[in-house]
Amino acid sequence: MKFFVDTAEIDAIAELNDLGMVDGVTTNPSLIMKSGRDILEVTKEICELVDGPVSAEVVAMDSDAMIAEGRKLAEIAENITVKVPLTWDGLKACKVLSGEGKMVNVTLCFSANQALLAAKAGATFISPFIGRLDDMALDGLELIDDIRTVYDNYGFETEILAASIRSVNHVLECARIGADVMTAPPNVIKALASHPLTDKGLAAFMADWEKTGQKIL
Ligand code: E4P
Repeated sequence: MKFFVDTAEIDAIAELNDLGMVDGVTTNPSLIMKSGRDILEVTKEICELVDGPVSAEVVAMDSDAMIAEGRKLAEIAENITVKVPLTWDGLKACKVLSGEGKMVNVTLCFSANQALLAAKAGATFISPFIGRLDDMALDGLELIDDIRTVYDNYGFETEILAASIRSVNHVLECARIGADVMTAPPNVIKALASHPLTDKGLAAFMADWEKTGQKIL
């Protein structure tokens, strides 16, 4: 499963990228707002840092304006993925932009039927939002499973980009189901390294090592 990092914070992306943990980046208008940066400038910096796809989201509501924004965003770098919302206009924009050879990420997906439409419109990635379904006491992981089944039934090549990941359990379950990609905030990716038994075991080793009075260096 590929790891995308869901942030527009350059330092956090750089830290994970240096460890080889970043296969791509996703941003959205809220993440750009949180970064306090200009969308074109920060997206360019991210594209220079990371080799993989970098999603930058359009903000227009009608398809013609989405297409114009998508073309402008795609000029930033070759690894830009234009992110469009899963609306009828977003699907029209997806069809046109993907037809031009641009990568398109269709976002804000909350049903397998929506994912089916995105695949038929030529999406490179479909972004089902797990956490936001869980927030409503629905089952976000069930959606990932449903989309996997539907796409596999018909051989759609659109990649399932599991989004709105809030926990390490979401990551594990997405990998079990077979999501192609997951995008998570830096803190969730870093939390994958943590386990209480690792901490406990390390503390015991260090206590015993102290008793030996030895040094390695
Ligand atoms: C990714 O493309 C989405 O923008 C993101 O994962 C949304 O996550 P949230 O529901 O935690 O805001």
